[in-house]
Amino acid sequence: MRLVLLGAPGAGKGTQDALIKERYGLAHVSTGDIFRENLKNSTPLGLEAKKYMDAGQLVPDETVMKMVGEKLAEFADDEGFMLDGFPRTVAQAEFLDGKTKLDGVILFNVDDEAIVRRLSSRAVCKDCGNVTTRLEHDKCPSCGGELYTRDDDNETTVRSRLKVFHEQTEPLIKFYRDKDLLLEVDAGQKPEEVFACVAELLNDDKN
Ligand code: AP5
Ligand code: MG
Repeated sequence: MRLVLLGAPGAGKGTQDALIKERYGLAHVSTGDIFRENLKNSTPLGLEAKKYMDAGQLVPDETVMKMVGEKLAEFADDEGFMLDGFPRTVAQAEFLDGKTKLDGVILFNVDDEAIVRRLSSRAVCKDCGNVTTRLEHDKCPSCGGELYTRDDDNETTVRSRLKVFHEQTEPLIKFYRDKDLLLEVDAGQKPEEVFACVAELLNDDKN
């Protein structure tokens, strides 16, 4: 199974990615996570990406496509995976189209104000990368590690990221609908309810 997880910042792509990975054992590629890992290690890629991430803008297509192209080349022809946060522009989607055949594109729909609220309380574990919310936890519920707030989760940057999503990523909804690949989920529900919808869409008989 080869999937794309599509949705605005804070729509819950990372949260659902973790649940899909747990249930289906599917490998994942998260472009945002790769940039943050590179930044942590102060690589040239990480330092280049930081300029755009801090401004709530997209990293240039050529940089992202080169990076994702290298990741995709590591998968065997019959190996499944899901892409979280890629593609985000029509150029990226066309690039992906030339690389692989997808089974589905899951679109997580949430309204902007709910997203601003969610991201104001998002917390990420420094040790295991688990994503959670400060509304419920002050330590990582998975490993007990310390939690931090992402640099791009302040309200000004979140609003820029939402604007970029509407202008540059939303055209992908039509792109994939026209290819009959789009699977839509109401992501304004609780995480486990969202996942139940995802599992249903993926025709999971274990659900
Ligand atoms: P990236 O890291 O991908 O950020 P994003 O797309 O903005 O998405 P987020 O990770 O912020 O949100 P999410 O949908 O994963 O939500 P989460 O599950 O964490 O990218 C960062 C930056 O890298 C970009 O801005 C760009 O600069 C660059 N970049 C990355 N890919 C690129 C590309 N392809 N091209 C160019 N540039 C690229 O959930 C959010 C919060 O809500 C959490 O606190 C969570 O606990 C909570 N939550 C989750 N689900 C629910 C729910 N159902 N109900 C209530 N709360 C929930
Ligand atoms: Mg994410």
